Amino acid sequence: MIIAIDGPAGSGKSTIAKMLAKELKFTYIDTGAMYRAVALKVKLSGVSPQDEEAVLNLMEKTEIKLLPAEWGVKVLLDGKDVSQLIRTEEIGKIASLIARLPQVRKKLVKLQRELGTASKNAVIEGRDTGTVIFPDADLKIFMTASPEKRAQRRYRELSEKGFTVDYESILKEIRERDRLDETRKDSPLKPAPDSIVIDTTDKNLQDVFLSVLKLVRERL
Ligand code: DC
Repeated sequence: MIIAIDGPAGSGKSTIAKMLAKELKFTYIDTGAMYRAVALKVKLSGVSPQDEEAVLNLMEKTEIKLLPAEWGVKVLLDGKDVSQLIRTEEIGKIASLIARLPQVRKKLVKLQRELGTASKNAVIEGRDTGTVIFPDADLKIFMTASPEKRAQRRYRELSEKGFTVDYESILKEIRERDRLDETRKDSPLKPAPDSIVIDTTDKNLQDVFLSVLKLVRERL
């Protein structure tokens, strides 16, 4: 069984995808982590995230591995654990830029499809998992929330981790990332026609989890 969960940054899709994978003992595939790992390599190498040829060359010499972890995935970039390093806003922005490059997407989509096909059951999470990677997924969820609510969640998350953050800058970054992800020509962020859209603006994630779990159980 393949469960595809898509949506913008801060919609709660990662939390729900991880909770589902844990509860159902399905493989969890975080496609964004792969774009982020390439983004980190791009940053460290000083290559421009808009130079498709340079990014592709770099990818030829790059090994990305996703390993199951207690909560989520462990990401190895050329054998080094970069699970934490890739989670910054800066890397998210670079990931969004390289995700606009069609040949880069093609390579990563191939890997993501292979990972999903190799697992008996998987929860796959990203922006194009239900539209491009697995258009025949058994269940497609598109999670969304207002930009303000998503910014509030990110603000709280970062403050709780002890970072000094500014709500207005976070909101601006979220809007910019939405713009980059929704306006790209190749696989823009949008719900698949047969996806179930869940607006989490006024919902708590535990309730969303229970309703998604119900949808899965109806299909098992
Ligand atoms: O979900 P995330 O924040 O980790 O994703 C980082 C960026 O990677 C996101 O802004 C766009 C890109 N991405 C994508 O284009 N397609 C995916 N399936 C997953 C992520």
